[in-house]
Amino acid sequence: MQTRSLVAAWGKRELPSRAPGEDSRMASAPQIDASTDLHLETILTSFDTNYAWNYGSLKEGLRDLYEKAKREQWNGTTQLPWSTPVDPESEIIPAQFNPLQDYGPFRRMSPREAVRLRHAQLSWQLSQFMHGEQGALIVASQLVGAVPWMDAKYYAATQTMDEARHVEVFSRYLSEKLEWE
Ligand SMILES: [Fe+2]
Repeated sequence: MQTRSLVAAWGKRELPSRAPGEDSRMASAPQIDASTDLHLETILTSFDTNYAWNYGSLKEGLRDLYEKAKREQWNGTTQLPWSTPVDPESEIIPAQFNPLQDYGPFRRMSPREAVRLRHAQLSWQLSQFMHGEQGALIVASQLVGAVPWMDAKYYAATQTMDEARHVEVFSRYLSEKLEWE
């Protein structure tokens, strides 16, 4: 689940020290050790990567989609009203959509307990969406390599950018607005 502590931990990562003469371009990359980093899960993936030598447009529909994607780029940082105040314990999702609404133990909770659970439920649900968006981001990026046509690579590249924004926005909403710890 997305938490502030996770974000803070990532921000505090220490960069490796550089040996004399070591390439400075490599020195800025943090050391990644998936076996000890609890915030990292490494999954082995294997697929054929296609380097397309034909730069012409072979799939007109895909080229149109790519043009549309370029025209309609958006910026979640500047185009979403992040200054809007959000009370994370308010009824952000209407109560009638809560699947626990008619569940006995839920109905027997005190108002304070119910509010706390509602906050936890929404944080959990949006966290699952966020993790799914990261999956989409990774898959879209892999599609750039896997597809055999340049038009398809172009379009998959825009899809990759779109999925990055989805992850970014869910992550920011969770940490800044829902503030679930
Ligand atoms: Fe997405």
